[in-house]
Amino acid sequence: MKVEMIKPVEGHSNLTNYDEAYANFDWAEVEKQFTWYETGKVNMAYEALDRHLLTDRRDQTALIYSNATREESYTFAQLSELSNKFGNVLRNLGISKGDRVFVFMPRSPELYVSFFGILKVGAIIGPLFEAFMEAAVRDRLEDSEAVAIVTTPELLPRIPVKELPHLKHVIVVGANETQEEGLIRYEQAMSEASADLEIEWVDREDGMILHYTSGSTGKPKGVLHVHNAMIQHLQTGKWILDFQEGDIYWCAADPGWVTGTAYGIFSPWLNGVTNVVRGGRFTPEAWYKTIEQYKVTIWYSAPTAFRMMMGAGDELVKQFDLSSLRHVLSVGEPLNPEVVYWGLRVFNQRIHDNWWMTETGGQIISNFRCMPIKPGSMGKPFPGIYATILDDQGNELPPNRMGNLAVRAPWPAMMRQIWKNKAKYEEYFRFPGWYVSGDSAYKDEDGYLWFQGRVDDVINTSGERVGPFEVESKLVEHPAVAEAGVIGKPDPVRGEVIKAFISLRAGYEPSEALMEEIRKFVKEGLAAHAAPREIEFRDKLPKTRSGKIMRRVLKAWELGLPTGDLSTMED
Ligand code: WT7
Repeated sequence: MKVEMIKPVEGHSNLTNYDEAYANFDWAEVEKQFTWYETGKVNMAYEALDRHLLTDRRDQTALIYSNATREESYTFAQLSELSNKFGNVLRNLGISKGDRVFVFMPRSPELYVSFFGILKVGAIIGPLFEAFMEAAVRDRLEDSEAVAIVTTPELLPRIPVKELPHLKHVIVVGANETQEEGLIRYEQAMSEASADLEIEWVDREDGMILHYTSGSTGKPKGVLHVHNAMIQHLQTGKWILDFQEGDIYWCAADPGWVTGTAYGIFSPWLNGVTNVVRGGRFTPEAWYKTIEQYKVTIWYSAPTAFRMMMGAGDELVKQFDLSSLRHVLSVGEPLNPEVVYWGLRVFNQRIHDNWWMTETGGQIISNFRCMPIKPGSMGKPFPGIYATILDDQGNELPPNRMGNLAVRAPWPAMMRQIWKNKAKYEEYFRFPGWYVSGDSAYKDEDGYLWFQGRVDDVINTSGERVGPFEVESKLVEHPAVAEAGVIGKPDPVRGEVIKAFISLRAGYEPSEALMEEIRKFVKEGLAAHAAPREIEFRDKLPKTRSGKIMRRVLKAWELGLPTGDLSTMED
């Protein structure tokens, strides 16, 4: 197949020769930039914030925050001081190294302050996406035995405090006067806290952040990342995001997900770059407006967003001045070549796709500014990282053969644990020396990697990873639902949408109203983004003789494809 190449970007970029860097790179050189090289101890909060106070960056804007009602900016010095205070708030509560402290709130300056206060006392951050409802919140706090949570009055009712024996402290940002006893008011606690704090110096392998993510079976798993991840966050920021002096960077992802922490917080601030954070919902207008208003130079977004903008038409783009943009990147789902061509046409920018996962902790494969792009390809591995394709026995495949996308382990930001679940962790490393991603892909003769799909049933809707099992479990809690099977159905804008096949209990009849009710049940019980957009009622669902619902068959039904081997199916 002949593929068109899009030439590298003109002008200065930090990485100028990919092949040379790939041949010569050594992570040890990056490590030298951190305190542990001298003292043996380290802390992400020091490297991303406090360190800048010793330089001219001290009074540089670190965070530009805006939502419908607030617009504020904070320097590195201000964030450092505020997070010292919050660290003291936590320390006064007895919270210390290794404790899990969750943050459950919409994007706000207080969220960023909380994150760094947590890190400064050596505790582990547990980010929770604001759309989570009670069941999702409970699962995560229970599994991690979290001792404290920072939240807002709106989200507070979704935290089942009485059912969580380990949860001792609930800190509420913006609590009103009548708020319940026993809660800690953030503002009051902060006003009483000292701005002097002795940071907790930790080992590079100590826990830093715990992101829950979905697999195809079981409850969400807690993916633990350690402070050592900073090595990769720093260097990928330099070479993939191309952070330079004076850049204004906007990462549209929410810190409830890994992109919103690794690249929405750590990577830009390790590199001393000004970070734009927008709260609230997005429309194509709001996206363009953000770039124009803050003169964004580097923009990291997702295919769903680009497709929505593309769908809004070229006329809309022309109403905004987007000339500040110098680098655009995409992650989270396959980036269609059509979108890459659209980006060239309307922004005069290449959109640089890159690939990684919650588990990898940092970017692994990317299109670099200095190299040609093959639209539709995710690019090449980061220097110092080897990614390839394995067959089902763990043997490396030659070019152009589809198989399991795998990465040679370890690399600096690799997850170090699935919380309390050694068996799940080991599943990823079933071939000695390799991390197996669960994605299928192939590598072409030039070393470019091409995404083909998920090996398992995990759904990717608008870049959000949803485990079918979690949705099915919620569905069967509804009194009308006997059984449920959930799949991802291809969708031109969202990549996939969630579709549920449901068989009803005796006494219930299919209806529009019931469909709506079930959808609402998942939305309110689990999360809005996990609610099935489509529901189809069936008398019976295809199951194996051991009673497992065969999602593969549901998918084949949906796509009108042959159902394949049915030898394990009941009747
Ligand atoms: C899954 C990981 C990377 C942080 C955001 C998602 C899919 C990710 C790409 C890409 C095609 C991609 C994979 C992967 N994915 N990037 N460039 N092209 N698919 O993190 O929620 O852990 O999801 O997202 O299927 O396994 P996540």
